[in-house]
Amino acid sequence: MTGFVGALHEFHDAEFVQGWADRFVPSPPRLALFNMVLAEIDQLPMRDPNVLELGLGPGYMARHILERHPTLHYEGLDFSAAFFQVARRTLGDLTSRVTFTQADLMNQSWPKLLARRPHAVISTWALHDLGGQQAIADVYRRCWEILPKGGILVNGDFIKPDGTAWEYEAGRFEVAGHLDLLRQAGFTDPRSLQHFEIEIDNPTAAQNYACLLAVK
Ligand SMILES: C[S@@+](CC[C@H](N)C(=O)[O-])C[C@H]1O[C@@H](n2cnc3c(N)ncnc32)[C@H](O)[C@@H]1O
Repeated sequence: MTGFVGALHEFHDAEFVQGWADRFVPSPPRLALFNMVLAEIDQLPMRDPNVLELGLGPGYMARHILERHPTLHYEGLDFSAAFFQVARRTLGDLTSRVTFTQADLMNQSWPKLLARRPHAVISTWALHDLGGQQAIADVYRRCWEILPKGGILVNGDFIKPDGTAWEYEAGRFEVAGHLDLLRQAGFTDPRSLQHFEIEIDNPTAAQNYACLLAVK
């Protein structure tokens, strides 16, 4: 069997955004990805690292991490005011620990809008929506520029699994392609930590994502 894997989104439409958030309340494998991201943050040497999430969305990862790490500073970047509203509801009392930064990752000056320099840049299920490899390569480059030495980029995102006969939207491509782009951005030894919800033969748009780690 073959087919096409991709999804269309209306990120600025409040009804669509709430519906998306309701459909994707984190499942056990998605929570496992959050724990993997958190474990990398926990290895940073400072007690109160600055963490930047690209694509805050409904704030599920933000809540998971903030509940488990009382001292880090969290900045959530997104271009969608509608998603910020949902994130505020998800975060509740934790909202006061989050800096909300409205910016478009397709505009290369987004780093200038950041409140502080991050020690960790994290992202889940967001960058594939930029539409292709060049846009993701640009984000990887900007991340390398803003991170200090020893800073980390952890990107958990949808990928095209090896060995598939299916066609995937351009923002979903092989892990090897991501690792190449990370190296081209300046990261010396990027690696994939895990492939989640692997489904080769009959995939949905919500399966097949990998956790990629790059250290500056
Ligand atoms: C799937 S959500 C992220 C989910 C989030 N990691 C969580 O755990 O709740 C993807 C987010 O990326 C944002 N996004 C997509 N394209 C963007 C762009 N060009 N600039 C900034 N944010 C963007 C969307 O608005 C959406 O909020």
